[in-house]
Amino acid sequence: MINHSSEISSRDFGKNFLWGVAISAAQNEGAHAVDGRGPSIWDSYAKRKGKIRDDTKPFEACDFYHRYKDDLLLVKALGFTVFRFSISWSRVLPEGMGKVNKEGIAFYNSLIDECLKLGLTPFITLYHWDLPQALQKEGGWSSHLLLKWFGRFVTVCAEEFGDRVKNWIIINEPMGFTSLGYMLGKHAPGKMSLNEFLPAIHNAAMAQAEGGRIVRHLVKGSYIGTSFSCSEVMPYSSSAKDIEVANRMDILLNRLFIEPSLGMGYPDDHFVLMEKLNLFNKAWKYKERMKFDFDFIGIQNYFPITVKYNPLIPIVQASEVKAATRKVPHTDMGWEINADSFYRMLKRFDAYEAVKELIVTEGGAFFKDKMVNGMVNDELRIDYFQQYLAALLKAKHEGVAVKGYFAWTLMDNFEWAEGFHARFGLIHVDFKTQLRTVKQSGHWFRDFLSSKKERHL
Ligand code: BGC
Repeated sequence: MINHSSEISSRDFGKNFLWGVAISAAQNEGAHAVDGRGPSIWDSYAKRKGKIRDDTKPFEACDFYHRYKDDLLLVKALGFTVFRFSISWSRVLPEGMGKVNKEGIAFYNSLIDECLKLGLTPFITLYHWDLPQALQKEGGWSSHLLLKWFGRFVTVCAEEFGDRVKNWIIINEPMGFTSLGYMLGKHAPGKMSLNEFLPAIHNAAMAQAEGGRIVRHLVKGSYIGTSFSCSEVMPYSSSAKDIEVANRMDILLNRLFIEPSLGMGYPDDHFVLMEKLNLFNKAWKYKERMKFDFDFIGIQNYFPITVKYNPLIPIVQASEVKAATRKVPHTDMGWEINADSFYRMLKRFDAYEAVKELIVTEGGAFFKDKMVNGMVNDELRIDYFQQYLAALLKAKHEGVAVKGYFAWTLMDNFEWAEGFHARFGLIHVDFKTQLRTVKQSGHWFRDFLSSKKERHL
């Protein structure tokens, strides 16, 4: 067990360690039909009844589009020096291709300039799950045209912003949006089809490398990465069946996207899905094209999972044994809290020979915060960060090449299918009035970052 009882400070991570906070366009910007923006798949998906908790819509979200100047002041006040945000593809190219929306470009230009004015280093995520609806009509991530569309989007962004932004994350969690959006039907665009999932995986694997090449070519002095979700997979019992299905889930959750990006091709471990994936896409032809020499790999570890054999589940034949059922600590998302597991995943990703540097591009938790007398005393979240940061420091001391940590997320926002119910922010947002209130975890971060150990709570 990692000992986090003796409090650590940001100084322990060294002078050049990057401390950031992350947001994404669809979750924060709002202004969905303002200044020429086209609809994204999340705008359309949210209009379908029963898809988003409480049928809420992301149309206004945190109204970051209009409030970014004040929000950046908060980022600064909390002591972060890096700001990670994503570009809304349909704000920049309302139809996905074709005409560039000058007002969309102007918005990101002002956002970038404001960051630089405040001394915040911008990290741009190119794709954080909000495909233009116009492209979804033509097949979205499953379409053979995807690479062409994505290439144009990346080119526009690199040309417009690359003079000032040097840090780029090509895609956020390809496993997340391809599986939830094209196979499980739980996220936009709500598809449930292997025939859509298999090409979507392959197009995302190709796009992450192609995007890297475009940015490298167009942006002088760029520092390029891409972000992967990861979850340690534990078998529920030591039975051969449980171990076998845990291995399958491990391929899907931890190896499927990073290995092709490192030039290793898709994992090929006698798993029927991998055979189909290769066959469907004739993927063996593309081993070289799926590879890109990333400067860093972003890792995002929200939970480990425990699985057991279940013959009724197609393909993976595995079902999850939830943290609550196992009576282990978990967040209000139901996600197991396990900093030791985070530490092991850091070690594991660092061990790939072709991985140069790691950045934890997201880390955070949802707890049912309560506002009492204008204050949110979210001790559980503080405890969560303390545990995870102690695990990170241990890994770093043992030689893991980790260069930064970005908290997820600046403020409560549109949490995808969970709507506005699941709050991950360091800052509380009242969605009726847009009033921001820094939570105790935000104050804790400020003290942690300014290394004032004594000011803990
Ligand atoms: C995503 C975020 C999301 C967070 C919490 C990550 O997988 O990148 O957009 O809000 O998880 O669910």
